[in-house]
Amino acid sequence: MKRYLVDFKNELCEGKYFDIVIIGAGIAGLYTALMLPKKLKIAVLSKKEIDDSDSYMAQGGIAASIGDDDRELHVKDTVNAGCYVNNVEAVKVLVDESEQAVENLIELGVNFDRDDQGNFYRSFEGNHSIPRILHVNGDSTGKGIMDVLIRGAESADNIEIISDIFALDIVENRGKCCGVTAFYKGRSVYLTSRYCIIASGGIGQLFSKTTNVDVLTGDGIAMAIRADVKLKDMEYVQFHPTAFYSGNTNDRLFLISEAVRGEGAVLRNIEGKRFMEEYDRKMELAPRDIVARAIFDQMNKSSSKYVYLDATMYDKDFLQNRFRQIYRECENNSIEMYRDYIPVTPAEHYFMGGIEVDLFGRTSMEGLYAIGECACTGVHGANRLASNSLLEALVFGKRAAGDISEKISCGEVCTLPKLKNEDSLNGKNKEVYFDEFKRSLKILMEKHAGIIRNTDDLKAALDIVEDRLSKLETSSLKSVESVETYNMYQVARNIVISILESKASIGSNYVENYFKDDKVLR
Ligand code: SIN
Repeated sequence: MKRYLVDFKNELCEGKYFDIVIIGAGIAGLYTALMLPKKLKIAVLSKKEIDDSDSYMAQGGIAASIGDDDRELHVKDTVNAGCYVNNVEAVKVLVDESEQAVENLIELGVNFDRDDQGNFYRSFEGNHSIPRILHVNGDSTGKGIMDVLIRGAESADNIEIISDIFALDIVENRGKCCGVTAFYKGRSVYLTSRYCIIASGGIGQLFSKTTNVDVLTGDGIAMAIRADVKLKDMEYVQFHPTAFYSGNTNDRLFLISEAVRGEGAVLRNIEGKRFMEEYDRKMELAPRDIVARAIFDQMNKSSSKYVYLDATMYDKDFLQNRFRQIYRECENNSIEMYRDYIPVTPAEHYFMGGIEVDLFGRTSMEGLYAIGECACTGVHGANRLASNSLLEALVFGKRAAGDISEKISCGEVCTLPKLKNEDSLNGKNKEVYFDEFKRSLKILMEKHAGIIRNTDDLKAALDIVEDRLSKLETSSLKSVESVETYNMYQVARNIVISILESKASIGSNYVENYFKDDKVLR
């Protein structure tokens, strides 16, 4: 079967040999690189610039159980948000190792915000029973952590960060991963490695409205699909309830962190009326899927494209200090948070599904690991608890690094693979307009695989996706844009099939016609 996008040939290697290639330079990729032994030669591939990632934009923070007292509750809140379909063993690992993850970041140089007594400043977010979210520089947590990790990786002799490289395929030899093909500087290259780690992030660009940066087209997951690596929970897509509504939906939507509601801001409909009491007793701090659906319902009822977030109970000083980035963005849009309501709309934010991994980030292919948003450990269940994702990347990144170090120190030998030259997908179909294909996929996914799903509509959507995929497979996939389009369709197809095969409406997989058949678990 033709599964590779370009022929891999040993001639393409250019002598570039690494012990480990990490695809993705967000928190998951960089932190894992830093946790690996210094004697290993590591490449970290960044699709664009090193700061072009969702990790860099992360506002909320890191949920962490500091001290033993909170652990049971953190597990309970995570599983409750996830609708009890989480992998509980993975959740326990996540929570038990959270304090260590925070300590590791502090050792690397991250300065978490603290109160006057020097204790961590801990915030609330949706469905957390107690305040346990740590942050850096108010709402710039991602930047605060990423700047430290980037500096660490850049100054490490064993780590080479390669920017503007677009990974294409995982190369496999006799069932074992042995490298990656990529587009680099206008041509195809092949990087051989003993282990590969996919840390390529999310899938936001499959939807019209997303908080994700534009590089997030599901590339790593599509690579796994082509390599026949197992996926899991592909039906669970999380919509963040409060992205800033500016009227311009072509670009990434600016996030208004859940921490704003955590500090006490409330939601109001277009008439200015608070509405969350109609939907959940936890009101604005109900699990994300519930709040997103409530907003969607209010928007539909009033034929409005947004609702309001009201933070006017706070004074300017508090808001400006606690939410510097958000305050600035609102101001740029002529909104003073202390005085004006903020127009918000739900937008795709996080993917709970992805490449199936075990407690050490191992995928179904020998030598291939996945961590962060592209991976599915099962910790998030059907709906992620706020601020558990950076934590997941840290905890399971470290575990993957530990597993690889043990194997390598056990003297596992690495032989350069003897590769057969395979045929690549290399068609000539000219009826494919990648830009248009991307645009229409986003609309289709937003409408049919978004906040409310209906399996009857999805069957028709699947036909369209499959028709487009067959056109793409006979076209020339020789540019970043063409491969991104193909990746998006491959991932979309898997999501739609997973929804159609899902047995019940649970959490973020809200299937309206299942309600007539009683296939409802929340
Ligand atoms: C937020 O700040 O609301 C996002 C945090 C998260 O997605 O966990």
